[in-house]
Amino acid sequence: MAPGDREVEENKMIVPENLEEMLSTLPKEKSWGAGGCFYKYQGFWYSSVWLLGTIWAQQCFKARETDFLLASSPKSGTTWMKALMIAIVNRKHHGSLSSSSHPLLIKNPHNCVPFLEVRDQEHMIGSNPITYLDSLPAASPRLLSTHIPYSSLPKSVLAGRIVYIARNPKDVFVSFWKFSEQFASKNNQKPQESPSISMEEAFELFCNGVSTNGPFWDHVLGYWKASTERPDEVLFVKYEDMKRDTMHHVKKLAEFMGHPFSSEEEREGVLQEVIELCSFENLSNLEVNKNGTFQVHVASQTGQNQLQVDNSAFFRRGEVGDSKNHLTPEMLERLDKITQEKLGTFGLEL
Ligand code: A3P
Repeated sequence: MAPGDREVEENKMIVPENLEEMLSTLPKEKSWGAGGCFYKYQGFWYSSVWLLGTIWAQQCFKARETDFLLASSPKSGTTWMKALMIAIVNRKHHGSLSSSSHPLLIKNPHNCVPFLEVRDQEHMIGSNPITYLDSLPAASPRLLSTHIPYSSLPKSVLAGRIVYIARNPKDVFVSFWKFSEQFASKNNQKPQESPSISMEEAFELFCNGVSTNGPFWDHVLGYWKASTERPDEVLFVKYEDMKRDTMHHVKKLAEFMGHPFSSEEEREGVLQEVIELCSFENLSNLEVNKNGTFQVHVASQTGQNQLQVDNSAFFRRGEVGDSKNHLTPEMLERLDKITQEKLGTFGLEL
């Protein structure tokens, strides 16, 4: 079999042959922040790219007990948490956190911690996106990430440990809206692929649960409930808490990951160094994050396509409450009300 033929074979294994047919049977909505439209699958909305990746992961991904999975709704602080997890786990291998070979100084955090459902340039082997994850050595824990809702996770994932980062939906909405503008211009999306949509229209969709991997509130709730039922395996963290008391939450994260900071490390300032290395100011000013590009391979029935986004798009303001500068008081109030209605009864405030 010629190598090209094998690629086609691999694609056949992982891309449902009747993808178009399958998509045509799913509920559909106008999308914002992604090309094409959103499809509802297992109760959540996806662009076709993320949906396909989710189905791949459900069918092919084999978790290991030693895995650490970072889960999040997009724009909730995924990049920051990836950086912290890498810095915590790697702090003993790199002599000094400021050593020029430290992965975070030369790579974007998304190139250090791969997603389950899409593959970036550095983590692609052949055309099967799962091959890279399977090739990682069994001896060291894998750091992985996902936007897949808890109820749709590949079943084997439930054997490993999960960290979830949640953020206030007002800031999530604004962050995603700004990100999607950059994404569309970078990928030259044609008007028919990415119909122009006003922020007000996108807001209406978001409030009605239509957003990437939304409904936002159901996404958060799935992981929140899991964290209350299985606290040793699922750690639930809020972006706002991380900003307010970074030291406390980074220590907690390190303990959860089985890499607690010793008193000696704390005395020597290692904890502070980790926090500074992963700070918005530091990461956003690194050459790789100012001028690099994050390229993602996505599979379709016709083979691999590439999407890209500037690494700088993952670092915008990094603040709590920026939504006040972009949304009207009525919009802010409406989101607060929905959040209270959906999450309040479960004892969760965002
Ligand atoms: P803003 O758009 O509000 O600035 P994600 O990583 O899930 O895509 O989320 C992106 C959001 O996290 C953006 O929010 C981004 O600026 C912020 N962010 C990225 N790196 C950060 C860091 N090191 N510390 C705090 N916030 C960070």
